[in-house]
Amino acid sequence: MEQTETWAVVVAAGSGSRFGGPKHALLLGGVPLWSIARDRLLAGGVDGVVVVGDVEGGVPGGRRRQDSVSNGLAVVPDCAQWILVHDAARPVASADLVGRVISRLQEGDMDGVVPAVPTRDTMKQVDGDLVIATVDRAALVAVQTPQGFGAAALRRAHKLVGVDVTDDSQMIELSGGAVVIIPGEPENVKVTFPGDLARITGAL
Ligand code: CTP
Ligand code: MG
Repeated sequence: MEQTETWAVVVAAGSGSRFGGPKHALLLGGVPLWSIARDRLLAGGVDGVVVVGDVEGGVPGGRRRQDSVSNGLAVVPDCAQWILVHDAARPVASADLVGRVISRLQEGDMDGVVPAVPTRDTMKQVDGDLVIATVDRAALVAVQTPQGFGAAALRRAHKLVGVDVTDDSQMIELSGGAVVIIPGEPENVKVTFPGDLARITGAL
């Protein structure tokens, strides 16, 4: 089958242990977070979205985030040339950011594209409570979703990598692929702790 389309997987199957309960269905302006995330992906140019989680039209999640992504990949059609993976917990990523991920992917010279922002704080390497060193902050970035991938590279990475990872680009790195960064958005905050909700309400 000819591969021309861009699809996205939105993962919304976590337990929200740090938040204090499932967070993907929280309402922002009356709309659930997972639905806002999906609509922004569509507005940014993806052709179809698979939502993973216990939501309307969703497919079942897995134990780890990466298992939920794998479940989503299993139902992304073969016509997808590019696949974006996005956290329902990061609903205010803009359509503009989605479009920039897709544009960078279409340049075709890498396997993964990741939005990144500079780290704000001074970064220390520690061993328990002992500071070992101050890390060169200029060489560090904080990464966000949506992350974009060549469909074949992402599917291959999910087959090859079994160790626990915290994002999909790490799987590409581990399976030997090339990942590049593009500018992320400081307001594209992930809802991790209860206080994070207040940080995204102004960003809609
Ligand atoms: N996620 C998922 N399936 C899992 C774990 C996480 O779909 N087994 C999703 C979450 O729903 C969220 C995204 O991955 O949209 C990012 O994960 P995180 O912020 O860590 O959410 P939770 O795992 O739910 O939270 P916690 O780690 O605090 O339990
Ligand atoms: Mg988690």
